[in-house]
Parts: sequence; structure tokens; C-alpha cells
Amino acid sequence: MLKSYVLRTGRFTDAQKNAYNALSEKYVLPFTEEKLDFSKAFGNASTVTAEIGFGMGLATAAIAEANPHKNYLGIEVHRPGVGKILWEIEKRSLFNIRIIEHDAVQVMEKMIPAGSLEAVHIFFPDPWPKKRHRKRRLVQRPFTETLAQSLTPGGYLYMVTDWEDYAVHALEELSACTHLRNSFEGFAPVQTWRPLTKFEKKGLAKDHAIREILFTRIM
Ligand SMILES: C[S@@+](CC[C@H](N)C(=O)[O-])C[C@H]1O[C@@H](n2cnc3c(N)ncnc32)[C@H](O)[C@@H]1O
Repeated sequence: MLKSYVLRTGRFTDAQKNAYNALSEKYVLPFTEEKLDFSKAFGNASTVTAEIGFGMGLATAAIAEANPHKNYLGIEVHRPGVGKILWEIEKRSLFNIRIIEHDAVQVMEKMIPAGSLEAVHIFFPDPWPKKRHRKRRLVQRPFTETLAQSLTPGGYLYMVTDWEDYAVHALEELSACTHLRNSFEGFAPVQTWRPLTKFEKKGLAKDHAIREILFTRIM
């Protein structure tokens, strides 16, 4: 099975730890092998967007704050990031974010009902630049099929990366998905509603071009 991450040992600050201990029960959903009932998880019937690998969650929190009528499901394995987003949820009084602290590949396969998501966001996925590691990249077959099937017809998959060869390959892999159609020709134009992320800043500091990819589920 695809293993797209190695757990990072980054600092877990006291603020993140306190938020994690105090707020997990309220906002973190346990990983199970059963399909999620979104209305129960969020307490309403609004649409759900999943974000895979939200890192420290600042973009997630900003998007959720700007769209209070939509729900956001953040999936991340990095515990300090989970602590950080919980802190943001509390600070900004957000009610429309839930978190799953688990491998997104398993979450998507086991917990997300087919045709249930309005969107999937993947911002700056781990690039695995070495050739022998490329099999660990998230946005490739067969996981792209799982992602496509999770979307409702008309729903979209939005990926952004600063690794050119990953962008080119992901475009090919997504184009090969029968359930998806590229919403643009080639790369997408900059989606101005997307806040800058931490890893985007790192890419820009290295003069990397930022590539946006947006596909829509067609059937
Ligand atoms: C390069 S960082 C980008 C973080 C953030 N999206 C940003 O742009 O700043 C990639 C993140 O994806 C997470 N990740 C990678 N594979 C994952 C998986 N299978 N399930 C959940 N999270 C994953 C990593 O833990 C890491 O935090």
C-alpha cells in the first residue's frame, strides 16, 4: 500500500500540546473502518471538502473561516500540526472543521463514502524528489481513482505543488482518470481565494514555480 509520509519529529510546542489535549475530543474524529456520517460528524448537512496533509492548517483555517456555510475535513498525520489547527479552530471560533489524525490513504479508502465530497484539496504534498522515492507520491494511480470516486459529480480535486516534475506527472495521472476532466487546458490559473501556505513560502524562497491543477468529476 502507498505510504506517502514519514512522521516528522518537528517541535510540539506547549500551546499545540495544550490545544491537542483540550480540544481533540471535540474536533478530532477517530479513524475507523466504517464510512463516516458527515451530518453526524459536523452537526449539519452542508457540503464537505477534504484537505489532505494540511500541515499546520493555516490555509485550512482561513478557507473554513471564509466559508462558514461549508464543512472542512482535515486529514494529517503530523501531531504538532493537529495541535496547531485545533488552536486556530478555538481562536477563530470555527465550527466547520473536523480533523482525522491518520493516513489519508486509509481514511479515503475506508471512511469516505463514494460520491460524497464537494472537493479534495491537496496543497504542496510531500514531493519525494528522489527517483526511487517517487512511488510514495500521493497524486498518482491508483490513489487518484480513490480520490475521484470520493467526489460528488461536479466536485473538484485541487492540487498545488512547487515541484515541476510532480506537477507534470500528476497532470498525466489525473488525465488518465475516467471520472475526471481537467477544468482548464494544462495547469490551472492561480486560484486567488487560496491562502499562501507554509510550504508554498518555502518553494517561493527557492524560486520554484507554483503549479495549480484542478480537475472536475464528470460522472
Ligand atoms: C509538504 S507538507 C505541506 C503542508 C501544507 N499543506 C502546506 O502547504 O504548508 C505535506 C504534509 O502532508 C502530510 N501527509 C503526507 N502524506 C500524508 C498522508 N498519507 N496522510 C495524511 N497526511 C499526510 C505530511 O505530514 C505533511 O504535513
